[in-house]
Amino acid sequence: MENELYKKDLKKRHSEKIFQKVGMYCWETPQDFFDKLNKEFNFTLDVCANEDNHKLDIYFSEEEDGLKQDWGENICWMNPPYGREISKWIKKAFEESKKGAVVVCLIPSRTETIWWHKYCMQGEIRYLKGRLKFKGRNTKGELVNYPATFGNAIVIFKGENKQKKKNLVDSRFWLIPKEIYDPLNKEFKFDFDPCPYPFVRDGIEIDWGKSNWVNPPFRTKDAINGHGPTAFVRKAIEEFKKGKTSILILPVQSYVNMLLEAGAELRPCGRVKWIDAITGKPYPTPSNNALFILKPKQKEIK
Ligand SMILES: C[S@@+](CC[C@H](N)C(=O)[O-])C[C@H]1O[C@@H](n2cnc3c(N)ncnc32)[C@H](O)[C@@H]1O
Repeated sequence: MENELYKKDLKKRHSEKIFQKVGMYCWETPQDFFDKLNKEFNFTLDVCANEDNHKLDIYFSEEEDGLKQDWGENICWMNPPYGREISKWIKKAFEESKKGAVVVCLIPSRTETIWWHKYCMQGEIRYLKGRLKFKGRNTKGELVNYPATFGNAIVIFKGENKQKKKNLVDSRFWLIPKEIYDPLNKEFKFDFDPCPYPFVRDGIEIDWGKSNWVNPPFRTKDAINGHGPTAFVRKAIEEFKKGKTSILILPVQSYVNMLLEAGAELRPCGRVKWIDAITGKPYPTPSNNALFILKPKQKEIK
């Protein structure tokens, strides 16, 4: 049945104008396509939908008018009505992202329009290969599948003001293997984890426990609110001064492990102003260094 309708309407579909006439303004995102993006972003709000086609439990319909709502700090899915109104939706998505929302938009790649240049080009753009097949009702109210007559793109506005959301979307996290964690837990009896997975809240902004297991984000790009290893080390020192214990796991060069395993004493050396061997001038940006002291104990000297 769907196929017959598809053939019947085939001729009509060759212009976008006709495509809009058959109800294009409320055509539903293919589920598998949405699911893949949802896995990546974990959407919390569908900003334009209706009772039949909402992709998430929480959504705004025409009645509530998503354009008039505050999208807060939600991770928003937006497949807007594709008519003239589209520019309003793109503007709204862009503005809401400035206030802290993350907005992922499925839109036609209309690269010639003002709204594309003004807003979309400030987001991350992913052009889609091929054509999406949308599900929707034609003018007779029948449910049909139509391949779009234009290319689509995903535009992502990442909520620039709110590092937390931006980084949550981008971040990757790594969990400690049991065989390393369990013996440490036995020894130190951890009562707090400031960097749990999944993310709960910023571990830098809260008080820690008496004995803390600290596995912070190692890379700046994974750091939530920009809080990477250095921020967690500072915080651990602060907590240490209050009498609290922290066990931190941090990446090091292989030679650091080699030296520590050999029993080296570790001493801070601060930022060293290395002297240029040719000019004799100090290096303009001193780097952090440490001393590793390998000194046999008295009884080991033969
Ligand atoms: C292209 S469909 C997308 C539906 C669904 N969110 C999806 O991704 O499949 C656009 C939806 O926007 C709804 N809509 C139109 N104007 C709206 C408004 N002002 N506020 C909220 N939703 C609106 C329509 O009813 C329609 O269901």
